[in-house]
Amino acid sequence: MHPLTRSAVTVFTAAALSAGAAAFAAAPTANCQRARQTFNDRCAMCHGENGKGYAAIHTPNFTDRQWQAKHTTSQLISAVEHGVKGKGVTMPAFKGQLSKAQIESLVKCVVRGFAKKH
Ligand code: HEC
Repeated sequence: MHPLTRSAVTVFTAAALSAGAAAFAAAPTANCQRARQTFNDRCAMCHGENGKGYAAIHTPNFTDRQWQAKHTTSQLISAVEHGVKGKGVTMPAFKGQLSKAQIESLVKCVVRGFAKKH
């Protein structure tokens, strides 16, 4: 192969790879943005837009990594689906109101996201 051709191929491949990676990342991001909006609309009144919860109604602090570590993702999804009988307020069940995919995005992007470094 001519050296010039080879470098053109390399540039093309790099561009194609990064375009592919961007397309791959874009789908979950759009999902996560929608999930964030749903959180603000349906969850933030009890959990706070910052996810820190409210002591008065005993909602957990989602930014606490230790709290996060104690709960598996499937436990959290199940809690959102079926609701939680809290110490003060009861969290309603969201199964039937939100799709399984919406609930998964809420937990994976938003609830988990509160404990990630920004
Ligand atoms: C009416 C208030 C209320 C609303 C609305 C609400 N929650 Fe909760 N949530 C609670 C309470 C109370 C708890 C449990 C606190 C406790 O353990 O005593 C809780 C617990 C949780 C937990 C932790 C479950 C576990 O296993 O400990 C998650 C995750 C959660 N909520 C997510 C959500 C999401 C996502 C939404 C919106 C779709 C939502 N919540 C809406 C009140 C609410």
